Amino acid sequence: ALAPLDFAVTKNLAAASPAAREEILANPGFGQKFTDHMVDICWSAGGGWHRPRVQPYGPISLDPAASVLHYGQEIFEGLKAYRWADGSIRTFRPDRNAARLRASARRLALPELPTEYFVQSLRELIAVDGDWVPSAPETSLYLRPFMFAKEAFLGVRAAKKVAYYVIASPAGAYFHGGIAPVKIWLETEFSRAGNGGLGAAKTGGNYAASLLPHEKAAAHGCAQELYLDAAEGRYIEELGGMNVVFVRRDGSLLVPDSDSILPSITRDSVLTVARDLGHEAEIRQVAIDEWREGVDSGEIVEAFACGTAAVITPIGQLIGEEYTIGDPDAPAGALTMEIRQVLTDIQYGRREDTHGWMLRL
Ligand code: COI
Repeated sequence: ALAPLDFAVTKNLAAASPAAREEILANPGFGQKFTDHMVDICWSAGGGWHRPRVQPYGPISLDPAASVLHYGQEIFEGLKAYRWADGSIRTFRPDRNAARLRASARRLALPELPTEYFVQSLRELIAVDGDWVPSAPETSLYLRPFMFAKEAFLGVRAAKKVAYYVIASPAGAYFHGGIAPVKIWLETEFSRAGNGGLGAAKTGGNYAASLLPHEKAAAHGCAQELYLDAAEGRYIEELGGMNVVFVRRDGSLLVPDSDSILPSITRDSVLTVARDLGHEAEIRQVAIDEWREGVDSGEIVEAFACGTAAVITPIGQLIGEEYTIGDPDAPAGALTMEIRQVLTDIQYGRREDTHGWMLRL
């Protein structure tokens, strides 16, 4: 095991008052307010990981030539800290986020942060900002680790100076309607990622690619957009910010597979929870026509979105240029909601954590 890093801690003298913090925690929204501190670790090609710090949350000073601003060499993660009834603070499968950050780092030619440092960085932040973990139902503290190229250099190559940060933001429901079924736009003009591209890496560019289609989706009254494979426009990939899963009439899950889908840790956990409940899963390419025909024939009975931010959100309807799938007024699917309940019960400590997923921070 690696020796822990020796963090220098600078307390925020202008931290929010308890009253101001409680007001934010009472109505957190998503990604709008941030805690009093942030973590920062430097990396350089010669010196490895160094200068670990906890500092007051605030602006980052960057050279205008920092290569992230030009070529987008950046990766990030998302996970949550939950307040249990006994007051303790836990997070969910952080080893998986650490492994995914390393996988993203390899694809973006960034340095691989060891799991030990990743988990320590979360603990250091929670040690100073633990009071920001809300306790109301369905709320959490969203943790956002990220890494970017800060070397000032305009040649196109991997940076030799990199920064890793963790910031945190109190979170309620990601979607305005809470866990009510959402409407999805079927995007057929633009794709999110192609074969051999960045789709499986958690990098800003994938989300940048989604912004214009997301505006189209919003203009059609949709909460997210669904992407199809870039080569044929035939197979289901994922939504702008989360994976999709289907439930069949026989209770089995149907899970779109592709090398350009971001491997969701929530989706992986959903498959395990479903198996625990006696439901099989089939993971394979799923054509968009299979969704439409499956809904028409009664073979596909539920669809949901899953991700750390979205947790599990039922999909009510898919609309596109040519057709509509589903009924906007249909209630959330029963298995969708059962899996959601089991997963959140584990996360909030209301159900035994038989898989050892929860880590005390
Ligand atoms: C997450 O679910 O954590 C994400 O990174 C997706 C984003 C839409 C917030």
